[in-house]
Amino acid sequence: MAGEFVERPLSWLVRRVRERAGRGRYLLGIAGPPGAGKSTLSAALRDAINSEASGMIAEIAPMDGFHLGNDLLRATESIARKGEPDTFDVDGYVSGLRRLRTTPVGEPVPWPTFDRSIDAPVPGGIVFDRQSIVLTEGNYLLLDDFGTRRWSEVRALLDECWYLDAAREVIEDRLLARHIRGGCTPTAARDKVRASDLRNADLVATTRQRADLVLRGNAGSYSVAVAPPGFSAG
Ligand SMILES: Nc1ncnc2c1ncn2[C@@H]1O[C@H](COP(=O)(O)OP(=O)(O)OP(=O)(O)O)[C@@H](O)[C@H]1O
Ligand SMILES: [Mg+2]
Repeated sequence: MAGEFVERPLSWLVRRVRERAGRGRYLLGIAGPPGAGKSTLSAALRDAINSEASGMIAEIAPMDGFHLGNDLLRATESIARKGEPDTFDVDGYVSGLRRLRTTPVGEPVPWPTFDRSIDAPVPGGIVFDRQSIVLTEGNYLLLDDFGTRRWSEVRALLDECWYLDAAREVIEDRLLARHIRGGCTPTAARDKVRASDLRNADLVATTRQRADLVLRGNAGSYSVAVAPPGFSAG
């Protein structure tokens, strides 16, 4: 089990990252189920780090940029399962992380983003350059290999990996609202959440015990449990 949960402000998380980031590039992973708030936390952390450093030293490298394209997913009849672990270009993601680690700070490394409005990746949506702190966030950062997809290679490329948790009812409500905002009827949204999102959430939950930190979002702060030393290996 992870340690006790302790309420921490965002500044505590900022300090943890900045204390660990040394020379070269520091890669922090933020894993967690769909709708847990990973993108929200990553953006808040990036902005707080950059504000404290008075410069753009941190940037986000979303796992979502490596969604396989809809044409390919249609051709392989996996479009209805979009978001599951085998609907991502995992080799591309691992190569991108490796490139961020090995490319000297100051040289460009393009990274794809994901545009929800067109439901597709945007190649080179971000270009890393002088940023020495990378926040990479997504569902499957702590997953074992899945079929032919080599997710287990991700963790070795990260300096630390956190897990952002949220109650199942909270996740369900947030994802329902998001699908309805995206144009789904309430019934279609409910089907999507039950058939896909919550299944993915259950799979992701099996990886929580591998995280260095487990976080739960509260209004304006986070409850944080630190894994005991040596714990993250399992
Ligand atoms: N700490 C928080 N308190 C309240 N609402 C939050 C919090 N964090 C995120 N949210 C809300 O929850 C929703 C989902 O957040 P977000 O998009 O960051 O999740 P995510 O983990 O990145 O999801 P996905 O895996 O689907 O990309 C958003 O509407 C966001 O505003
Ligand atoms: Mg997100």
